[in-house]
Amino acid sequence: VSLTVASVALRPILDSRGQHTVEAEVTLEDGAAGRGSAPAAIRPGRRERPVTPLGKFALRGDAVGAPLRDTLLGRTFAGLEGFDATLVRVAEESGLGTNFTLPLSLAASRAAAAQARRPLHGYLAELAGTDPAMPHPLVNVFSGGIHSGLVPNGFQQIMLVPENASIGDDVAVALKIFNAVQRRLRTRAERYSLSDSSGLLVDGASSGRLVAELADLTAYHGNTLGVGVDVAAEHLQTAGGRYRLGPRELSGDDLAAEIERLSVDHDLVYVEDPFSPEDAELWAELTAALSGRALVVGDDLFATDSERIEPALASAILLKPSQAGTITRTLAAAAAAREAGLALCVSHRSGETEDTFICDLAVAIGARFVKIGGPRRGDRIAKWNQLLRLGENESLIAVDPFEITAGKEDG
Ligand code: PGA
Ligand code: ZN
Repeated sequence: VSLTVASVALRPILDSRGQHTVEAEVTLEDGAAGRGSAPAAIRPGRRERPVTPLGKFALRGDAVGAPLRDTLLGRTFAGLEGFDATLVRVAEESGLGTNFTLPLSLAASRAAAAQARRPLHGYLAELAGTDPAMPHPLVNVFSGGIHSGLVPNGFQQIMLVPENASIGDDVAVALKIFNAVQRRLRTRAERYSLSDSSGLLVDGASSGRLVAELADLTAYHGNTLGVGVDVAAEHLQTAGGRYRLGPRELSGDDLAAEIERLSVDHDLVYVEDPFSPEDAELWAELTAALSGRALVVGDDLFATDSERIEPALASAILLKPSQAGTITRTLAAAAAAREAGLALCVSHRSGETEDTFICDLAVAIGARFVKIGGPRRGDRIAKWNQLLRLGENESLIAVDPFEITAGKEDG
């Protein structure tokens, strides 16, 4: 179905960290309209496509995005792919970043879905040629790393990984354990705060202790509930190529040994960004060592780029639309990753808005996981609630972990 653009608006709005970000609104000729906004990282990965600083745009909200708006207005595109290709071309020519292209791509996807009278996840699934399914939430319980302040402290996230037969069951167990952890901290009068992605930041606690604490609480749930970590190792790296873990500085080999030890002691099922992207050998070794037991997940490693996917390095990919810059590119990365046998996880950023697009996207491509933070704060709760809404659709079966790859071999 062709898309004829009748109007385009670009405006500065606020994200959950109180920073400006870009919202776009696209209206098509028949009146179908859509809206979307860009999330933002605290510190983008080194391999990410650039974003445009918003100083002038936030003050006046006009001229900065004009090259994109003026090109799109009145044009007819064969479909979202043509629309997105134009975004990428004009952004390259005018030096605009993914924080301008992504909101337009999200808005156009929603407008196109409305024009086709399809729910967003249905429209995206048709576009991608995929079978929709309900993903499982990756639940941020403890935070650390650069999410804890200027000096990175430990792993960025320690998560619950529920894989029940329904999203309702996943949410119920997530709430039960998150609330129990918070109660324990209060009872012990431990000092903690809530991170940007709604994880608990516990003063002075080591990542090892927090992993053990969470593993202890999940032990009764058998294989329907596991523990995962996002090491976000790129941000822990020192100038000399070593890794800062709390007060300690480790070599890559030592960090690998530490992660393997944690995975054995606490049955980790998910390990994201265990090393910086340059440490390719360590990635490959850990992926092989944990195969069949835990997913090794590339976030800053693949940067949601279909060209970077290498199945020897990891067993899953984190898909962040803001890294790709458009939905077309995000779907291309998802397709390439699936083709390579990788499990799919769709992800938020640390700075979010009320936009829930990633939930529909995760459903559309039948991703195994969707990472939406902890069950606190409006920006994250909006996504939890959208998952609950999508879960009402009885034709959407929850992704069955035993039917798909845990490592590449059994896929
Ligand atoms: P970000 O990462 O801080 O780069 O947005 C969030 C995540 O990986 O969960
Ligand atoms: Zn990450």
